[in-house]
Amino acid sequence: MKFFVDTADTDAIRELTELGMVDGVTTNPSLIMKAGRDIKEVTKEICGITDGPVSAETVATDAEGMIAEGRELAKIADNIAVKVPLTWAGLKACNVLTNEGRMVNVTLCFSGNQALLAAKAGATFISPFIGRLDDLNLDGMELIADIREIYDNYGFETQILAASIRSANHMSDAAKIGADVATAPPDVIKKMAQHVLTDKGLEGFLKDWASTGQSIL
Ligand code: G3P
Repeated sequence: MKFFVDTADTDAIRELTELGMVDGVTTNPSLIMKAGRDIKEVTKEICGITDGPVSAETVATDAEGMIAEGRELAKIADNIAVKVPLTWAGLKACNVLTNEGRMVNVTLCFSGNQALLAAKAGATFISPFIGRLDDLNLDGMELIADIREIYDNYGFETQILAASIRSANHMSDAAKIGADVATAPPDVIKKMAQHVLTDKGLEGFLKDWASTGQSIL
């Protein structure tokens, strides 16, 4: 499973990229607002940090507007994936931008039917939002499984990009189901390394090692 980092914080992207953990980046209007920077400037910097796809989201609500914004965002760098919402207009824009040879990420997906339409429209990525379904006491992970089944039934090449990931368990569950990509905030990716027994075990080893009085270097 590929890891995308879901942030416009360039320091955090840089840190994870240096560890070899980042296969791409996703941003959205809320993340750009949080970064407090100009969208083109920050997106260009991100595209220089990673070679992987960098999703940059359109904000128009009509297809023509999304297409124009998508073309503009795509000028920033070759690794831009234009992000459009899963509306009828977004699907139309997806189809046009895909036919122009651009990567397109269709976002705000909450059903198998929406994912099916995005694949038919030629999306490079479909972004089902796990956490926001869980917030409503629905099962976000079930949606990932449904889309995996639907795409596998027909050999759709659209990549399932599990999004709205809130916990380390979301990451492993998405990986078990076979999501192609998971995009997560930097702190969630870091939390994947944590285990109380690792900490406890290390503490014991270090205590015993100190009592030997030895040093390795
Ligand atoms: O990847 C989409 C993500 O940014 C939305 O996450 O936590 O706001 O639902 P969240």
